[in-house]
Amino acid sequence: MALINEHYLKLQAGYLFPEIGRRVSEFITANPDKKVIKMGIGDVTKPLAPSVVKAFHEGVDEMANANTFKGYGPEQGYEFLRKAIAENSYQARGVNISADEIFISDGSKCDTGNIQEIFGHNNKIGICDPVYPVYADTTVMSGKTGTCQANGYYDGIIYMPCTEENNFIPELPTETPDLIFLCYPNNPTGTVASKEELKKWVDFAIANKSIILYDAAYEAFIQDEEIPHSIYEIEGAKSVAIEFRSFSKTAGFTGTRCAFTVIPEELFAYDSKGNAHQVKKLWNRRHSTKFNGVSYPVQKAAAAIFTEEGKKEVTEIIAYYLENAKIIKESLNKLDYKVYGGNDSPYVWAKTKNGLSSWGFFDKLLNEANVVGTPGSGFGPSGEGYFRFSAFAARENVLEAMERIKNLK
Ligand code: MLT
Repeated sequence: MALINEHYLKLQAGYLFPEIGRRVSEFITANPDKKVIKMGIGDVTKPLAPSVVKAFHEGVDEMANANTFKGYGPEQGYEFLRKAIAENSYQARGVNISADEIFISDGSKCDTGNIQEIFGHNNKIGICDPVYPVYADTTVMSGKTGTCQANGYYDGIIYMPCTEENNFIPELPTETPDLIFLCYPNNPTGTVASKEELKKWVDFAIANKSIILYDAAYEAFIQDEEIPHSIYEIEGAKSVAIEFRSFSKTAGFTGTRCAFTVIPEELFAYDSKGNAHQVKKLWNRRHSTKFNGVSYPVQKAAAAIFTEEGKKEVTEIIAYYLENAKIIKESLNKLDYKVYGGNDSPYVWAKTKNGLSSWGFFDKLLNEANVVGTPGSGFGPSGEGYFRFSAFAARENVLEAMERIKNLK
């Protein structure tokens, strides 16, 4: 008899975004004449940049020619891409990360979920609340939690509330997590963490031999020069942090798929006897056993982002989305909503009015304005009463959505 992984039965409802998609599809089926504007899932709408498309085509042409055809590539990713990342995303900012510490993958969602596999079952996991749902859901799937309580918290996870009071940056927890998920610029609140705030976490991890799982998928949106783009800008971080980055939001690769994870040489974790083991070695073992690399044309396309032309084009695309975020923020502000984020991030985090719940606001917006956003409570209990707007829609749709919200009763 085949037995299931019963930890899956502890998961609450469906994964957030498919659940929203289901409700929206239902609405569209019942109201085929309505034009629905989607500002829910953070999915990009601008096409790939011209230099990326050109490199992509060239990669496909190479695959069509017997002399340049490529079969399996290195599981860790082609060196040309890892080198370009190391030089442009790290060394250019004074951070000493080498190509050998970079693993190319098909997404940060997969990497932030899969990374737990190389760590022991008894680790305590620290997770912000609200948070990108993947961290909590994959912790449950891996069997590190008990059941979900009435307050929405799973037994066994150390929750770190992010609220207006702490500027959406969690306090150091009283119980010590072994693995700590942090995400900045933050999904969902759109807020950023300063060097001082990150240093607090790095020092905490050093003192407790914990590891920070730092999701920097939205780093390209940072405009404030004082805000670190990488956790490795903080002294000591290389011995306590893994960093996840993605080309999805940076360069429109949500459908193309390409991301990377950085595991520094000096990062160690321990066995039950207290012996230290290089984490990079374990991830390399996992990656080369379970993954056969991202396709060559995709990696070639990703490398084009680091050419002079590519950098210029991608900066323009990001500026477009940030202008959308500014429009959303200013429009909601004028309507007396309290809003956060949106300056160094494509997400605007708004407080609902008149005590409306997150899903209550979702329904009102969908039914009365035909606009889709993401209910804050879907990211965790502390997100209740909040709502996330994504700035990745086309400009005319953002403007129309804001006009419709203005006219809400
Ligand atoms: C989001 O909307 O939070 C993201 O698009 C989801 C993802 O990147 O997987």
